[in-house]
Amino acid sequence: MGNNTRQAWLEAMGITVWERRDRPAVAPGPISPPAVCDWERLMEEVESCTRCPLHAGRTRTVFGVGPRTARWLFVGEAPGAEEDKQGEPFVGRAGRLLDAMLQALGLARQEVFIANVLKCRPPGNRDPEPSEVASCLPFLRTQIAAVRPRILVALGRFAAQSLLSTEQPLGRLRGRVHEYDGVPVVVTYHPAYLLRRPADKAAAWADLKQARGIVHHE
Ligand code: URA
Repeated sequence: MGNNTRQAWLEAMGITVWERRDRPAVAPGPISPPAVCDWERLMEEVESCTRCPLHAGRTRTVFGVGPRTARWLFVGEAPGAEEDKQGEPFVGRAGRLLDAMLQALGLARQEVFIANVLKCRPPGNRDPEPSEVASCLPFLRTQIAAVRPRILVALGRFAAQSLLSTEQPLGRLRGRVHEYDGVPVVVTYHPAYLLRRPADKAAAWADLKQARGIVHHE
């Protein structure tokens, strides 16, 4: 990517300064090989899932997209209206900002894996219920075990709390590197939140640079 393109994406994120990448805050944990996964079967299981009441209101399930060998795995909360229609994560307004965040990192959407904690849309985009998270999380866990990314980026409170099995607020979870099953986890703001609070984009960019430092220094 040329400098001008990168600059344009950084500006879309509200960031005007290109900085050198950071060193990782912690040494990366051991990386174990990807688990053998029957992806076709997993996709069918998600598509036909009736484990929680959300299945009744969905147009489509949103399995997740990306290479099964991706180095980066981004985790969002749940499909919104557009994702429910298209069956793909982050294709609405928040998705366009996520794309800008990826571009700023020098990443194409096609080279990262993107998934949500919930595979079905909660009505009216309400917060996920704990019972829905409990029903759906095993799918995400299987995806993570199969992809075995170098970094997990949790987008927003629900993704972070679900992955890390904690009730700590986002403010306490950001700014340090966590671990999920041997994979480093960086927590940042959800793009939908950043659309409402652009002033926090600079902090999100710092989180992403921290994640990039981990990937690059492994
Ligand atoms: N918000 C999310 O958390 N996930 C999506 O897929 C879309 C919006």
